[in-house]
Amino acid sequence: MAGILSGKRGIIFGAVDERSLAWHVALRCAEEGASLVLTNTSAAIQLGTISELAGAKGWELIACDATNVDDLRAFLSRAQEILGGKIDFVLHAVAQSTNLRRHKKYEQASYNYFQQTIDISALSLHKLLSVALETDAIAEHGSVVALSYIASERYFYGYNDMADAKAMLESIARQMGALYGRKRGVRVNIVSQSPTPTRAGGGWKEIEFFYRYSDHLSPLGNANADDCAGVCVALFSDLMQRVTMQTIYSDGGFAHTILTPELVDDYRRIERVNE
Ligand SMILES: NC(=O)c1ccc[n+]([C@@H]2O[C@H](COP(=O)([O-])OP(=O)(O)OC[C@H]3O[C@@H](n4cnc5c(N)ncnc54)[C@H](O)[C@@H]3O)[C@@H](O)[C@H]2O)c1
Repeated sequence: MAGILSGKRGIIFGAVDERSLAWHVALRCAEEGASLVLTNTSAAIQLGTISELAGAKGWELIACDATNVDDLRAFLSRAQEILGGKIDFVLHAVAQSTNLRRHKKYEQASYNYFQQTIDISALSLHKLLSVALETDAIAEHGSVVALSYIASERYFYGYNDMADAKAMLESIARQMGALYGRKRGVRVNIVSQSPTPTRAGGGWKEIEFFYRYSDHLSPLGNANADDCAGVCVALFSDLMQRVTMQTIYSDGGFAHTILTPELVDDYRRIERVNE
């Protein structure tokens, strides 16, 4: 099928069910003509519905723990066999925080969980790209995208240890972007996405309120999963050949907005009620 990813081979980490950002990215990449191999942990494959999507689309789905270097090595090798050559693009949509999920206060975090959060949500990108570099798994001028959130840069009540993991993820993307760019012309970018209702995105208690707040503050409203997929596809394509080590905001303008007239009115109303 003709499209801006026609003839490209991609691997997608992190689709577990139809709400997953990675699920939407996979569908959009296929629409644009890419061949795909999907991966997730064996637990997620059993728990979610990703094997049904892969089956319906005829995509191979391979279990791989993104924190395990041996798994990553085996997966990258197998994916290249299936796809028939080096990998042109990679989506890293991998995250988990048990501190967040169990509503631990940030200052009372479990350090075991904290280390898991960092390992799964940030170090996994380092491990993946280290193995890919060592085995030369990504084609020249390939493109890697990892998904993040603005809480990496600005304090966000409730985002817990995931904020630290996202800050580290973004730094790893820049460092690996510099190394991989010089060695093989491979681009590494971050897409910083609006809050989106998914398994990982739903871990925070006040999330429903926050979707509304974020939508209200963003000049273009919240970006949805399809918007995220569009930005990823553009980054995977040859149209973005010299874009690397960047954080691209798929967020309707939220990251760069502080105050709107509506918020001023809301705050005035609150002040009047409290007088
Ligand atoms: N949903 C949002 O609001 C939002 C906003 C910005 C960024 N993001 C990021 O988008 C990415 C995808 O999250 P999502 O919202 O689609 O939720 P999701 O729960 O659908 O995806 C998270 C994925 O990480 C996988 N994962 C966890 N541990 C793993 C491991 N050890 N090895 C391999 N995979 C593992 C899970 O199985 C799951 O598929 C994450 O990095 C998330 O932080 C999400």
